[in-house]
Amino acid sequence: MRPLAEMAVAVLQTADPWEKTQKSRAYAAEWQAARQAGQTPSIGRCAPPLRPARPDAPALLDPRDVPRRKPGTPEGRCAILHAVAHIELNAVDLHWDIIARFTETPMPIGFYDDWVKAADEESKHFNLMSECLEVQGSHYGALPAHAGMWRAAEDTATDFMGRLAVVPMVLEARGLDVTPGMIKIFQNAKNTQAVDALNVIYAEEVHHVAYGSKWFHFLCGRHNLDPTGVFHQLVRTYFHSELRPPFNEEKRAEAGIPPDFYWPLAQETGAIR
Ligand SMILES: [Fe+2]
Ligand SMILES: [Fe+2]
Repeated sequence: MRPLAEMAVAVLQTADPWEKTQKSRAYAAEWQAARQAGQTPSIGRCAPPLRPARPDAPALLDPRDVPRRKPGTPEGRCAILHAVAHIELNAVDLHWDIIARFTETPMPIGFYDDWVKAADEESKHFNLMSECLEVQGSHYGALPAHAGMWRAAEDTATDFMGRLAVVPMVLEARGLDVTPGMIKIFQNAKNTQAVDALNVIYAEEVHHVAYGSKWFHFLCGRHNLDPTGVFHQLVRTYFHSELRPPFNEEKRAEAGIPPDFYWPLAQETGAIR
């Protein structure tokens, strides 16, 4: 078996989204089979690209230029599925990137188990959203998408704790806030395929946020740092948008993100009026 960091970089360098998720799932299965057989496979070292390879379509636009569509229309719902597919594809790359990028910091093997599992689940999520789009006569790449999503990864390319604070603990936690509303839209439209897919995503995303919180707290403990203060500092440094309520306090708590992590930041940025 190749060292894990090399497999991670191979996923990052694959442009075609379906080939990317297929590789991602195959590598995850290889890793998990070795771990279940009691092995400790090598992590190795392999420098990830600053940006992952991406297909020619969708066109990536500035967030302000992505057209807004009403969720009450079939086109609007297709746009939601497309946006979620795009988020999931970014998430596949984000999880393999955290595996390869910070190998200079020694971590317990469980850290890699968690992110391999998360990367595998994101690949499944992308495939689920792609299938929903295809049933609607569309496909990933048919609509423009948000260009800003890799920014958090670039901003935290040299700051491991910053990466954990911003990606799983802010961005993926935001997913927990907004997914129930999306599920409602597809329930109203009687699209059970999309409802089922979004329920899978919603259940599994709680774990990704929890992995972020677990390893963030682990590193705080290693360096004898106050987790709440450090989290606030890192989010102020690397996150360039508002933390905006309503927050899904119950799911955030389940994922190990207590209210004093996010409410003070929401107050500071003026998101509470
Ligand atoms: Fe996901
Ligand atoms: Fe996730």
